[in-house]
Amino acid sequence: MPVQRTLSIIKPDAVGKNVIGDIIRRFEENGLSVIGTRMTHLSAAEAGRFYAVHEGRPFYNDLCAFMSSGPILAMVLEGQNAVVLNRQLMGATNPKEAEPGTIRADHADSIDANAVHGSDSEENAAIEIAFFFSDLDLQSRG
Ligand code: PPS
Repeated sequence: MPVQRTLSIIKPDAVGKNVIGDIIRRFEENGLSVIGTRMTHLSAAEAGRFYAVHEGRPFYNDLCAFMSSGPILAMVLEGQNAVVLNRQLMGATNPKEAEPGTIRADHADSIDANAVHGSDSEENAAIEIAFFFSDLDLQSRG
């Protein structure tokens, strides 16, 4: 399987619950390495740019307001099959549909406040990583 990079965001709800360590533990125990981190508090406009692909969808404004409601932790994860593996560990977007033992099943309250974001393809991962990080911020283990 190819070694990939993907973007993970621990969202404001999960940062507020103090479960950053638990979420990172799950990544590391499943073969993903954290190769860059950035804690930040997005403005609504910055969140809007990050989620521009969803502009026009009914949840877009609420999503941008939520993602700019408090600090987030953006991370780059690296490992074999990282894009799909990260999304498996996250669980379904709606926590009511998330498999038991996934991050969202354990830490998300609703489809709006769902604890984590993960890139959905290698192509989008590259775009999303570049939104938060420059190459100099990343320390590959490879
Ligand atoms: S979809 O519907 O398949 O396009 O959903 P997805 O690709 O997972 O991305 C949607 C992102 O918007 C967030 N969000 C919602 N999605 C669907 N419905 C509602 N009501 C909603 N509210 C917020 C969802 O968490 C996804 O955000 P990220 O950060 O990408 O996980």
